[in-house]
Amino acid sequence: MSDLKDLELIFQSRVPIIVIQSHEELRVLDMLKSLIIKLNKPLFSWSITEGLTRVDLDMGSQKTLIEPDAVLKHIKASTIEGVFVLLDFHHFMKEPVNARLIKEIALSYYKRGHHIVFLSHEIDLPDDLRKLSASFELLLPTDEKLLQIIKDEAYSWSKKNANKKVKTDNKTLEILVRNLGGLTAGDARRLARKVIFDDGAITETDMTEVMAAKYKLLNQDGLLSFEYNTKQFSSVGGMAKLKRWLDLRQTIFRSRNSDHGLQNPKGILLLGVQGCGKSLVSKAVAGVFGVPLLRLDFGSLYNKFFGESEKNLRKALKTAEVMSPCVLWIDEIEKGLSTGENDGGTSRRVLGTILTWMAENEKSVFIVATANNIDSLPPELIRKGRFDEIFFVDLPAHDTRKEIFDIHLKKRDKNSSSFDLEALAAASEGFSGSEIEQAIVSSMYAVYALSDTLNTQHILDELKQTRPLSVVMGEKIQHIRDWASERTVPVE
Ligand SMILES: Nc1ncnc2c1ncn2[C@@H]1O[C@H](COP(=O)(O)OP(=O)(O)OP(=O)(O)O)[C@@H](O)[C@H]1O
Ligand SMILES: [Mg+2]
Repeated sequence: MSDLKDLELIFQSRVPIIVIQSHEELRVLDMLKSLIIKLNKPLFSWSITEGLTRVDLDMGSQKTLIEPDAVLKHIKASTIEGVFVLLDFHHFMKEPVNARLIKEIALSYYKRGHHIVFLSHEIDLPDDLRKLSASFELLLPTDEKLLQIIKDEAYSWSKKNANKKVKTDNKTLEILVRNLGGLTAGDARRLARKVIFDDGAITETDMTEVMAAKYKLLNQDGLLSFEYNTKQFSSVGGMAKLKRWLDLRQTIFRSRNSDHGLQNPKGILLLGVQGCGKSLVSKAVAGVFGVPLLRLDFGSLYNKFFGESEKNLRKALKTAEVMSPCVLWIDEIEKGLSTGENDGGTSRRVLGTILTWMAENEKSVFIVATANNIDSLPPELIRKGRFDEIFFVDLPAHDTRKEIFDIHLKKRDKNSSSFDLEALAAASEGFSGSEIEQAIVSSMYAVYALSDTLNTQHILDELKQTRPLSVVMGEKIQHIRDWASERTVPVE
């Protein structure tokens, strides 16, 4: 069904209040203008800067009725049936007088026949008004339409550049169409134009920029962040089982068709000992899947958005859907879920929101959640079937420690083959990955001070001086291990 037809049906269904959440104010006003001819009613728009203006006839701005309550009183008193579009009225909705006036206008619908349309990028009606309202959403462009937009922009580039053709291939074009999905036509066009006019080509390397720009257009209040810094498996030591598990699923995750008859992977929960690479491997999932990494900051759900936690969470999840395919990373999930019994039930509801979403979501959003503190994990979260798998990240074993030394020496431009990795691995039993990295860094400082060249012995000396996590937190680690042995799968 077309947008216009939809909107017409809403008007015909005789609901007094119509809510349109959209960033495309002009497009909606144009739609209303074309509709009003059929409805045979006058169309007015109101904004705090222009006051009330007749839109279907050009009568110029009259700058009358600027105040929100004044315009509502005017509508209430008006005896001519009309459609009144109130722009950005969300700022004034909370005023008791305004809410009451709106209700009175709505309740007198059968006598007066006025429609009030709220048009804002965001609007939240009080409960009693919601019952008297219907909401309308603009359809977003289809894939065909997006392709047409890209072709239009390519054509206009070509015209400006001596009829040269825009360089691309079908596969990249398809990815661009997919990446523009969920944006309004106007935003999609601007982004497509930018990609093409940059260098007359649409390439895979443009896609990170497209996704980052898309994210900026969608993003609201900082619960989600776009992480540019994804990793590859080569920067993660060990975890062979986890890597294989992910490898087997990446093609399915990225494919758009569902011919394979398999369910789209939903996500994993990584539990384990601190400093052993949970956050690191989360970033690598996005790198290996080749999709954007969005980080959901669960901690600030409570602090920053007090009282509006669920609403903000739903918004963030919606953004993730529009950004799909993507990895949604919830680091330290327990911090957002365990604020205790005295939070008025907020953490329960937040958990409910996320679990329902996980069960119902059909978009390619792969969740990677991490947690250290098993004791504060709600049992619902680890129940079978929520995540595809719950992995346990333990302290690295001998061979993994070798790999971690190798990775971090190379990362610091050291020739790792000139080090005795066997000896280093043997001496670092009970160390976390993060402590191994730290030992390398500290010994580099020590060596620099001595104007020496780093060798195996320097690192061994450093290791000897460190009391590793396995000693400092022995009991706690054993507790996690016992817990995990019955409930999780090891990463290697
Ligand atoms: N398996 C590993 N391979 C390579 N580097 C590692 C590994 N484990 C840890 N490191 C190094 O230690 C750093 C810290 O690890 P990371 O932050 O991923 O641990 P974590 O498990 O998320 O810890 P926390 O529970 O404290 O958040 C990493 O950035 C990386 O440099
Ligand atoms: Mg971490």
